[in-house]
Amino acid sequence: MTSRAILSYMSGVPQLVPEDGAQKTFYLETFGCQMNVHDSEKVIGTLVQQGYRQVETVEQAGLILYNTCSIRDKAEQKVFHRLADHKKLQAQGKKFGVLGCVAQQEGEKIFERAPHVSLVCGSASYQNLPQMLVELEGVVAREIPRPAGKGAGLRDDASLKGAGWLTTEGKREGRKREAGSLIRITGLDDRQTDKCFETEFTARSNPHRGYITIIEGCDKFCAYCVVPFTRGKERSRTSESVLAEARQMADLGYSEIQLLGQNVNSYKDPAGGFGKKRSFAELLAAVGEVPGIKRVRFTTSHPRDFGRDIVEAIDAVPALCDHVHLPVQSGSTRVLDAMQRLYSREQYLERIAWIKAAKRDIAITTDTIVGFPGETEADFAETLSLLDLVGYDSVFTFKYSPRPNTPSLALEDAIPDDEKARRLEVLMIRQREIQKKRYQNYVGAIVEVMVEGFNEARAQWIGRSSQNKTLNFTAPAPAALKAGQYAQVRVTTSFPNSLLGELVL
Ligand code: 5AD
Ligand code: SF4
Repeated sequence: MTSRAILSYMSGVPQLVPEDGAQKTFYLETFGCQMNVHDSEKVIGTLVQQGYRQVETVEQAGLILYNTCSIRDKAEQKVFHRLADHKKLQAQGKKFGVLGCVAQQEGEKIFERAPHVSLVCGSASYQNLPQMLVELEGVVAREIPRPAGKGAGLRDDASLKGAGWLTTEGKREGRKREAGSLIRITGLDDRQTDKCFETEFTARSNPHRGYITIIEGCDKFCAYCVVPFTRGKERSRTSESVLAEARQMADLGYSEIQLLGQNVNSYKDPAGGFGKKRSFAELLAAVGEVPGIKRVRFTTSHPRDFGRDIVEAIDAVPALCDHVHLPVQSGSTRVLDAMQRLYSREQYLERIAWIKAAKRDIAITTDTIVGFPGETEADFAETLSLLDLVGYDSVFTFKYSPRPNTPSLALEDAIPDDEKARRLEVLMIRQREIQKKRYQNYVGAIVEVMVEGFNEARAQWIGRSSQNKTLNFTAPAPAALKAGQYAQVRVTTSFPNSLLGELVL
C-alpha cells in the first residue's frame, strides 16, 4: 500500500485505516448455504483487516462483491441479474467481484458475460484474497509470487489461459490500468489444495451463535451435485485448531456453535505428532465440553458416513443439540443408486432407527429432490412413504436442476417442470400433515430456548429450541429478556412450522 495506515479495531477485527481518511469500502451480498454465509464472515474479516469498511448499499461501495451459489440453476442466475442491474455503476469507478461457487464453476467465462467484473475467486482460493485485493486496487503493479504450485503472479497476455490464483492482463495491463481499463484477477486453481480457509479475522454477524468450519470440499460426487466441482476436494482442519476456535468463541461470549462442512461425517483429523487425533463424534463431544458452550449443532451429514457414535455422543454430552439433519434425497433405492448416494432406503432407515433409539428426543430433518431423471410415480411414492415412516420435523424439498459438470447431466432431464412442481407440492402437503402432528406433541411441554429477538408487531419474543424449532412466546411486561439469553417456555399452541408459548418465571 502506498498510503500509510494505522491500526484500529472494528467488530473485534483489527482494521487498517488510512491516515488520509479515504477508506476503501465494500458491499457484500451472500447467496446459498451456511458454508457460504460463514465464508462471507471470513471474507469480511479479511477485507476489514486489509483496510476496507463494509457498507450497506451498492451505491456507498467502491468494491461490490457477490458470494454466489450454483446448487440449482435459479440460484446461479441471481448473481447475473445483480451484475446486470448494477453494471452502470462501473462508470463511477466501482469494482465488481464474484466469489464462491458460481465463480469457481464459470471461471473466466464470467468476464465474457459480465465484462465489468474484475475479480473471480472460488472458495478454495480465499487464502489468497489479501494479495488479490492489493492487486485489485492497483495500488502496486509488481510481480507477486505465487505461494505454491504452477504459474506466476503478473503475466503477459499470452500466458493468461488456464492461469492461476492471481492473473492480470500482464505488465502491459498494469500500464493500461493507469489509463482506466479493467484489471482482471482470478482465484480458481486451488481445488486440489489441502488447506482450509483458516483466518483469525472472522467478522461473525451474530454475537451469541457462530459457525466453525471443520471440513471443506466434498469427495462424494453425488450424480446431481455441483459441490465437488465448486468447492474442491475434501480437507479437514485439525481438531486442536477447531477446539482452539471454539474456546476463543466461548471467551468472547458465544454459547452456541454450529460445526460446518459439506459432509461433516467424513471428517478426518489430520493431526500429527503430539496432537490428539479425533473422530467426528469425538470432536463433537469435545466442542460440547468447552466451558461456556451450551449448544453445539452440526451440518450436513451424509447418511453413508453417519455412525452410531454420533448418537452416543448426543446422548452423553448435554450441550449437543437434539437435532440431526440427514438428507435422504429419495426414498427409492433405485433412484438413490442413480443418484450415486452410496446407501439404500433400508440403510438410511437403519440410521434413523439409531437416532430414534436415543435416550433424548432427537429432531430429524432432511432434504429431498423430486424429478431426478428416471424417477417414476412408484419411486416418488416411496419417498412419500419414507416421510411417513420417519416422521420428519422438517423437510427441504427441491426440484431437480441439471448442473454443469455433474454425472447426471448426461441423463435426460425428461420430467417436465410442471410434473416436478406437482410432486413438490404433493410432498409438501404430506409433510405439512406430518409436522402438524409432530408439533402438537410439544403442547404442554416446557422447552428451553435461546432468545433471538422480539417481534414488536406481535409483541412476542422469538426463541429457538435445541431441536431447532422456532418458539414464539409472551412474557410479562417487566421480564427483561435479551437476545442470547436462555429461557424456559411453556408451549401452549402448535403450528406446522412453529410453536407458541409463554415464559416460565
Ligand atoms: N437439483 C436440485 N436439488 C439439488 N440439491 C443439490 N443439488 C441439486 C440439484 N442439482 C439439493 C440437495 C441438497 C440440498 C442442499 O440441495 O437436496 O441436499
Ligand atoms: Fe450453493 Fe452448494 Fe456452493 Fe453452498 S456449497 S453455496 S449450497 S453450491
